Amino acid sequence: MAFFFSLRNPNSRLSASPVPPMSNGRPNSNGLVHHMRPIPSRNPNPNGRASSKTIISRQFTVNASSSSHSLPGVDGVMMDYIRGRSRATLVAHSLWRHIVQKGDTVIDATCGNGNDTLALLKMVADDTRRGRVYGMDVQKVALQNTSLLLDQSVNPEDKELVELFCLCHSHMGDVIPDGVKVRLVAFNLGYLPGADKNIITKSETTLLAIEAARKILMPGGLISIVAYVGHSGGREEFEKIEESTSRLPFKSWNCCKLQMLNRPLAPVLVFLFKK
Ligand SMILES: C[S@@+](CC[C@H](N)C(=O)[O-])C[C@H]1O[C@@H](n2cnc3c(N)ncnc32)[C@H](O)[C@@H]1O
Repeated sequence: MAFFFSLRNPNSRLSASPVPPMSNGRPNSNGLVHHMRPIPSRNPNPNGRASSKTIISRQFTVNASSSSHSLPGVDGVMMDYIRGRSRATLVAHSLWRHIVQKGDTVIDATCGNGNDTLALLKMVADDTRRGRVYGMDVQKVALQNTSLLLDQSVNPEDKELVELFCLCHSHMGDVIPDGVKVRLVAFNLGYLPGADKNIITKSETTLLAIEAARKILMPGGLISIVAYVGHSGGREEFEKIEESTSRLPFKSWNCCKLQMLNRPLAPVLVFLFKK
């Protein structure tokens, strides 16, 4: 049986309830998404901007805890990236795999269409059921897309390890239980592909969110940021991140960026490693 996670306020956990019957791919009167529809994702192109692709509905359930090991390592993905054959997000995912362990608590600070949430879930899920992915987005439709992708990609037990919040990521500290240390916080900035391009991450709240992430991250943890500089406000947001993270003390933080020099609109990767 498939399950749908209802969206709750920051103070409560999400619960599972049955998925409604499929219809036209749009939220119904209860706000639930009915069936798989084309989900645009970001692909490399000369401008470094997104192009559309359809996520193909899966006919079977994948066990999240057993599906991540056949993926290529960071060296292969980096070589593909340098050759122009791999997306920035895949470079980020391959690095995450070197940091995140089974049973960890991690955060997807910008759920969007759920691709990063799914990748993180595969990294933390195992039979101990200790792993947790806290996902957040300011748009309900993004959380619905994320929930739907999880329904189609993992079994209900693994999906229960994910908690989704309709929340600005600057408040992430409010939803993580006291005392829990987080191994990784992922930001994939900008707008939701296929939705309103005016709803974007803003430098002010992004900086607050990075600050919040720094506080709850454990030593050996990583803040991973994919910054898009091709849309209005995107470059300013990246430059503010660059400016503020460049000032972090190197005794406790290693901060680096990965940027295409001859593709000025390509996304920039920023990694903040807590020593
Ligand atoms: C590029 S998309 C994320 C892509 C997503 N990680 C994925 O794998 O599909 C950026 C998302 O950030 C969300 N967003 C914008 N401002 C936000 C904020 N202050 N807090 C949390 N999410 C925000 C947008 O609604 C959008 O869904």
